[in-house]
Amino acid sequence: MGGLRIAVLKERAEGETRVAATPETVKKFIGLGASFAVEEGAGSGASISDTDYAAAGAEVLPIDKVVADADIVLAVQAPDVAALADAKPGARVAATFDPFRETSRAKAYAEAGLEALSMEFMPRITRAQSMDVLSSQSNLAGYKAVLAAADQYGRAFPMMMTAAGTVSAAKCFVMGVGVAGLQAIATARRLGAQVSATDVRSATKEQIMSLGAKPIFVESVEGIEGEGSGGYATEMSEEYQKAQAELVSAHIAKQDIVITTALIPGRAAPRLITDAQIATMRPGSVIFDLAVAQGGNVEGSVADQVVEQHGVFIMGYSNTPAHLSADASALFSRNLFNFLSAFWDKETGKVELDEEIGDAVRLTKGGAIVNERLK
Ligand code: NAI
Repeated sequence: MGGLRIAVLKERAEGETRVAATPETVKKFIGLGASFAVEEGAGSGASISDTDYAAAGAEVLPIDKVVADADIVLAVQAPDVAALADAKPGARVAATFDPFRETSRAKAYAEAGLEALSMEFMPRITRAQSMDVLSSQSNLAGYKAVLAAADQYGRAFPMMMTAAGTVSAAKCFVMGVGVAGLQAIATARRLGAQVSATDVRSATKEQIMSLGAKPIFVESVEGIEGEGSGGYATEMSEEYQKAQAELVSAHIAKQDIVITTALIPGRAAPRLITDAQIATMRPGSVIFDLAVAQGGNVEGSVADQVVEQHGVFIMGYSNTPAHLSADASALFSRNLFNFLSAFWDKETGKVELDEEIGDAVRLTKGGAIVNERLK
């Protein structure tokens, strides 16, 4: 058997319901000549049974056998190196590594001689869009955030004319219009809310309008593009932050639902809403903080809790995609397949990553940390 051996472990992080391969991707990898091992129960959180994996051609094995002789291990969250002791020397692990926060993890992978491929570091280039787990998972998270907020909200989203009188439409404000924010806007619109949105990147203004929402932007501070490398936000000047806070304060007081999604790569999430601003909102309003696990955009938000401040509900999940595990797993798994299959040589049965993508995602190789962003 010359083909590569791929293994998928059951995720062990608390609250992680996703899985890094589905029967669909197992079949596709086998089609490339690989053999596939899946740990027993790996798909249970995503409604995929061991029988489904077996029917797709995977060997379903207990924990102590699943990684044996693996060339490639796929995971949603990178496993502890101890779980990978039986993999082939130098085996590749494609997963999310949370590299800026889990700094000791890359070191442990280097020491174990493993090749860590961090899917969060996928470059944001057209060619790699189908491999981008941050996009696929943020998209679903933006959707779920709106549904969770709607569920918590004691009123309706759409305007309704009933025999008993009119129910007015909810006003929903989306802060941060990246992948998650765009989906949040679209979802809130579909539910019938009146939607507005803001971002520091001025390029998002047109995207907001094209989705039928109202852009709320700081116009008074000159020369703001708000965009750094790779299309990501940069940290803004004090002057801008002050103007933004004033604008947002006036706007927020009139909102029923606020969804915050703002992130800055490698840093704590920016604080967008203060307790004083929350106090101006109508009781019963809901704020969903999608950045709660990265430090939070909202003062007082606590992961996986609904906190009531001044009668306003503040909520956010530590792992939002895990609340949509079947679709999140399906998209994550396809991202991994699209990534590896792009570099798969069927003749030789080898995977040779190119420089642009390989150097971006590779954290460790040959016993050392090799990634520029981590050095
Ligand atoms: P992200 O998750 O890093 O941040 C979410 C949003 O928050 C961003 O739009 C950011 O500008 C905004 N933000 C940051 N600080 C803020 C503040 N203080 N106030 C208000 N908003 C703030 O962003 P995401 O979703 O990862 O997207 C980043 C960029 O990458 C976008 O331009 C997106 O279109 C682009 N992209 C490109 C892809 C490709 O070509 N392969 C794939 C995915 C995204």
